[in-house]
Amino acid sequence: GGESKLQLLRSHIRAFPDFPKKGIVFRDICPILKDAAVLKAVIDLFEEHVRNSHQHVDLIVGLDARGFLFGPLLAQRLGVGFVLVRKKGKLPGPTVSVAYDLEYGKAEAEMQADAVAPGQKVLLIDDLLATGGTLKAACDLMRKMQAEVLGCMVVIELKELNGIDKVQPHNVFSLVQY
Ligand code: PRP
Ligand code: ADE
Repeated sequence: GGESKLQLLRSHIRAFPDFPKKGIVFRDICPILKDAAVLKAVIDLFEEHVRNSHQHVDLIVGLDARGFLFGPLLAQRLGVGFVLVRKKGKLPGPTVSVAYDLEYGKAEAEMQADAVAPGQKVLLIDDLLATGGTLKAACDLMRKMQAEVLGCMVVIELKELNGIDKVQPHNVFSLVQY
């Protein structure tokens, strides 16, 4: 069931203290991806959440870079398309961009101007919610493109950083919390 899948997932997240900077506990998801059954369990849990929470989804929007690991798999399960929000300078053609702060730096999120049509219902996905700056920037991009954000999904939420507050009024669903 869902609880044993969550336990399997929890046991495949590693903590690395002081990476990439002193004071940061880095939550490493690589063991999840290395094990086919664990990766399947993660997508099962996301799929179950989406089917229980949203009647209609047009697109899954994945965040650079680790949102790209889960987003396309979930989109395939749901039978919908996947689009990319990338770090600035990676996408060709006309783009829309937004600047934001990270837990350990600064960045700019960018999307192709034709990636999402006005009124489309989108779900955002990333591996981890820290300060919420990345997901907030992606939500701001969606607003610029007049898409409707149904909600956000992450594998891991770092609760002490209150990222949820930054992303509101949008909802953030997480599988594992620290
Ligand atoms: C990490 C993580 C999230 C973001 C969360 O990505 O994968 O995207 O930080 O932090 P926030 O909630 O404080 O914004 P990072 O920017 O390190 O880049 P990467 O995915 O390319 O490793
Ligand atoms: N992205 C931002 N903060 C992070 C953390 N503590 N672990 C892994 N990825 C992150």
